[in-house]
Amino acid sequence: MNKDKIAHLQDMPPATPQPNVYPLSWKTVTQKAEEVWEASRREVWDPAKLPWDTFDVESYTWEERESIAYWWSLLSVFDASAPPVFAEAFVKTYEVHEEDAIRRCFFSVTQDEQNHEQMCGLAITKLLEAPSYLEYEPKTELGKRLQKNVAWLYYNGGRYWTGYKQAVPKYSMAVLFSSFLMGEIAAATIFHQMAANCTEPVFQEAFKNIGRDEGRHMAICLTVMERDYPNLSEAEKPIITKQIRAGYLFLSAVLFEPPEDFWDLPADFLTNQREAEENCRTAGFGVPTYDAKKENWRSAMLNLKSVLDKYDTAFPAIPEVGITGEEVNDIDMEDIIPVF
Ligand SMILES: [Fe+2]
Ligand SMILES: [Fe+2]
Repeated sequence: MNKDKIAHLQDMPPATPQPNVYPLSWKTVTQKAEEVWEASRREVWDPAKLPWDTFDVESYTWEERESIAYWWSLLSVFDASAPPVFAEAFVKTYEVHEEDAIRRCFFSVTQDEQNHEQMCGLAITKLLEAPSYLEYEPKTELGKRLQKNVAWLYYNGGRYWTGYKQAVPKYSMAVLFSSFLMGEIAAATIFHQMAANCTEPVFQEAFKNIGRDEGRHMAICLTVMERDYPNLSEAEKPIITKQIRAGYLFLSAVLFEPPEDFWDLPADFLTNQREAEENCRTAGFGVPTYDAKKENWRSAMLNLKSVLDKYDTAFPAIPEVGITGEEVNDIDMEDIIPVF
């Protein structure tokens, strides 16, 4: 007999130590979360079932193929880390005994992000006929430079996971959600723009679906914030302010341009990336121009600021897009929570 058995000694078991990973409870407080979950079931899509038969890679030059695959690789730095990142947050919703519908919402986000990652993979492998940009044999001189860019992006993004894993248990859901919201607002905006500016049907369709997913993710974050922010502690507020600045620096790489003092990148990185993005646009793959990105990013930030203002939480200064606020310095890759 197992010597730890106690059921023969007492009528009721002792209390289970908390946090315990399973709640055994299904309360719903936030009706809105239930609605978002239902929408996520209705809107499920499969990247493999997009109209790939209409996509003729050979109608593009090798420079165009390498440039478009570069953009998908840049996106992958954020989207390929999203499934494990949200899976970690999903586990946390169980540990903190989140509402039933919120747990399901996080399950749906994890699934969506898996789809987005799969989509990046399908686009890249078809364009390059290789499993990744890193393993690909470049066909042009630009392709070679872009491969170096991808290697540097991968190196930078790789530093984020350790910090994230430490942050998740440390912070409340409320703090985590402000960081998530930042990524979701930004993602929703850029994917709608991409959908509008792409001529290739398979990419139009993908961006439309991804943009719709990100809109739901944004709604989930807003719902939890509305529930939790009225009770935010004074200690949590400066952490949120810092995280918003961190999110700006991190996500700028894909939504705008990577800030120099935060991203560790070689001198020719930006010229290579700009050249690739110009090629993308010529090929009908609608990466927004510098000015469009800047405007987009600025309005996403102002959108987020209007949410935080309601709860008396200081917004960081983002001089890069002309937003004044609290000065936040000393941010490192290890401090980042924001995700896509
Ligand atoms: Fe995503
Ligand atoms: Fe997302």
